[in-house]
Amino acid sequence: MELTKLDQIRAAEERLLLSTYDRNPILFVGGEGVHIIDENGTKYLDLLSGIGVNALGYGHPVIEEAIAKQSRKLVHTSNLYYHEGQAELALRLTERTGLDRAFFCNSGTEAWECAMKLARAHAGLLREEGKQIGTKFLALDQSFHGRTFGAVSTTAKAKYREPFGPVVPGVEFVNFNDVTDLRAKFSTEVCAILLEAVQGEGGVRPLTQEFFAEARALADSTGALLIVDEIQAGMGRTGKWCAYQHYGIQPDVTTLAKPLAGGIPMGAVLCTEEVARSFHAGMHGTTFGGGPLACAVACAVIEAIEKGNLLARATEVGDYFQAQLRALATRHSAIVDVRGKGLMLAAELDSAKLAKLAVAEMLKRHILINCTSDTVLRFLPPYILERSHVDTAIAALDEVFTEYAAAQPAAQTIGGHIHG
Ligand SMILES: Cc1ncc(COP(=O)(O)O)c(C=O)c1O
Repeated sequence: MELTKLDQIRAAEERLLLSTYDRNPILFVGGEGVHIIDENGTKYLDLLSGIGVNALGYGHPVIEEAIAKQSRKLVHTSNLYYHEGQAELALRLTERTGLDRAFFCNSGTEAWECAMKLARAHAGLLREEGKQIGTKFLALDQSFHGRTFGAVSTTAKAKYREPFGPVVPGVEFVNFNDVTDLRAKFSTEVCAILLEAVQGEGGVRPLTQEFFAEARALADSTGALLIVDEIQAGMGRTGKWCAYQHYGIQPDVTTLAKPLAGGIPMGAVLCTEEVARSFHAGMHGTTFGGGPLACAVACAVIEAIEKGNLLARATEVGDYFQAQLRALATRHSAIVDVRGKGLMLAAELDSAKLAKLAVAEMLKRHILINCTSDTVLRFLPPYILERSHVDTAIAALDEVFTEYAAAQPAAQTIGGHIHG
């Protein structure tokens, strides 16, 4: 049976795979810069970059070269032996995150599991040392931390958690950016406060300085950990290596993944020396994590981001993109909010139906975006995006909203309302 055409592949997947994904009917076969290319050679402007993974775009020579070179040398060793890559990558990441030690794994959710285990182990250590500290986690409303059990247990959205109950006990959710609620729910029972500096899946929502600072202060008051999930916002997407760096607040633990190894699966946990003493040999591990291939590519990605001055570019092009979205919102009242940092951006719409339609209409115009939290159009483009690409996207969005408004019986197209 031939499996080269989209309809053949679709039919086979329907029969053979668990139905976990609602895929768009496009078969991608290649990519070049900010464009991904389908089986017919059609180029799509990718403003989603594989959900925040392809930060350097497609076919980046540095990634290709790193994969080719390392694959000829050594792909896997297991963690029973040394190879050249882990210390090198740990050095680069500790320098850039301001944390002291690293653990490498294969995905975001795995990094999150490790962070949660660190928190429980750290609290155990403090109890042995005579401190009063419990085992409870405080997570945030609208949070998303992944799909494994610890991660879904700390993920607010019921649809990700409830089908799998009972989930890990001892998790309480705090209203987003609500300092009073955070104070009310915090106690010596809490072993860690879990945050995303900018929530991704939850709708691209940045924490307020006040909330973040209060979380740090409360954690400090008992020895609980402040754990910041940078899986989506980190590695330069917001214009800094980690989004928490915009706030001048250091977490005790952070998690990275998505763009870390340029599309080769990899996650990382970074923590302070104090937290690191909670783990000793045998307490945690992975067969594949931190393998030579992923480490070599991650080092190359970091080098390419720095050589290409891509943090500054994410800031500059991101600011331009955000300004253009705000201008668009003044012309279309359906856009009720524009927010984000760097190249992690969102336009919130006043209707879920329109958001779904906008994604589909942009796809027809060969531009990839997605919709999260029902009404939020999310943009996570590669860091190599240029202003001209932004202009293309804005013109297409303008057309989509104009056509939609024209099709409404009592259309209103002026006076979009914007928050900071
Ligand atoms: C903030 C955040 N944490 C965790 C995850 C889970 O990462 P992964 O899908 O690599 O397991 C994601 C994925 O979207 C994420 O955005």
